[in-house]
Amino acid sequence: MTIDGYKRFDFADLSARDRYKLLIGTVVPRPIALITTVSPDGVYNAAPYSFFNCLSADPAILAVGVENHADMSFKDTAYNIRMTEEFTVNIVDDAMAEAMNVCAVAFPQGTDELAEAGLTAIPGSFVSSPRIAEAPAAFECRRHMTLELGKSREIILGEVKGVYIRDSLVDSDTKYVDQIALDAVGRMGGHGYARTRDQFDLKTPSLAEWQQNTQPTAETG
Ligand SMILES: Cc1cc2nc3c(=O)[nH]c(=O)nc-3n(C[C@H](O)[C@H](O)[C@H](O)COP(=O)(O)O)c2cc1C
Repeated sequence: MTIDGYKRFDFADLSARDRYKLLIGTVVPRPIALITTVSPDGVYNAAPYSFFNCLSADPAILAVGVENHADMSFKDTAYNIRMTEEFTVNIVDDAMAEAMNVCAVAFPQGTDELAEAGLTAIPGSFVSSPRIAEAPAAFECRRHMTLELGKSREIILGEVKGVYIRDSLVDSDTKYVDQIALDAVGRMGGHGYARTRDQFDLKTPSLAEWQQNTQPTAETG
């Protein structure tokens, strides 16, 4: 139905697939977490997740939405986090986009995707899951809470215990992160991605600044 130039969709009438297409095509770009975990048997696992964001700074909480396989079995990431309560979120930059995509291949359970993708695992220091040497930043997290959204998916909240950020990207004193140099990529709909090189500043004015700038200029004389 088109109303005043907008197509209207009632989500109650849509299939899960169509809802997914409308959501992922519109909520863009989504940051990508390349999540590394370790299985109870000690095998490293890596997979990208773009239903992902930073939801709170105090406590520091990262959230990731993990769908189950079609037969409702857990993806390795969800299973490993359930078993070990730990995971690492590696930020994906443009240089590692193709390797990230290799980690999304449906390899048999127990495959070390990092080895398949040619990425280098470094043992974690706050958690047992590894971080990726090639990633510009890696957040080491402990599972805080899991929200079960029906039988087919869950949202995992992780509390950040520590972060590694490439030396050249962050100032130790000010904590300023050079986001152009970070060069993170985001996920668009379909198979699309976006770079983050086209950035601009837009400072929110204080109320006083807003009022000053919107006052009509006083008539003189
Ligand atoms: C960029 C990108 C983003 C993805 N985001 C998600 C996501 O948010 N949730 C999800 O369940 N799968 C997502 N996937 C698919 C998983 O990465 C894929 O199913 C992977 O094989 C799961 O691996 P695992 O079983 O080792 O966890 C994404 C794939 C790509 C390439």
